[in-house]
Amino acid sequence: MISATLFIVLFILPVCTMAMDAAELYHERTCIACHGAYGKQPVMDEYPKLAGQAEAYLLTQMKDIKNGYRTNAHSVAMQNVMHLVSDEEIAVLAKWLASLSE
Ligand code: HEC
Repeated sequence: MISATLFIVLFILPVCTMAMDAAELYHERTCIACHGAYGKQPVMDEYPKLAGQAEAYLLTQMKDIKNGYRTNAHSVAMQNVMHLVSDEEIAVLAKWLASLSE
């Protein structure tokens, strides 16, 4: 029993975490609903396009919105979903979005 639990903790959980890649995260965490497929077609003109922006910029903006440092008329829409993503997932998403063509 202990070895079965150990097996799950040591092998299966890490694999599950790694298996969630950026594109899946983007769908899974509802980003696509507002920013559109591949961050290219936001649902409203006021919402930003994400594809191809600098990784460091994307990373900072997501953290600032999550922490409430960035606030404007539209930030609240996104702030409400940022509890769905961890800091590690934000980093994965920033790297992926930056790698996409504009
Ligand atoms: C409910 C709609 C909504 C959802 C869902 C959403 N966002 Fe946003 N996002 C916005 C809005 C609106 C802004 C602009 C906010 C502002 O100006 O402060 C924004 C801003 C951003 C920015 C900053 C872009 C820039 O050019 O400054 C990034 C990066 C981002 N979102 C990524 C994501 C990711 C990744 C997810 C999924 C975890 C996500 N968003 C989910 C609406 C949303």
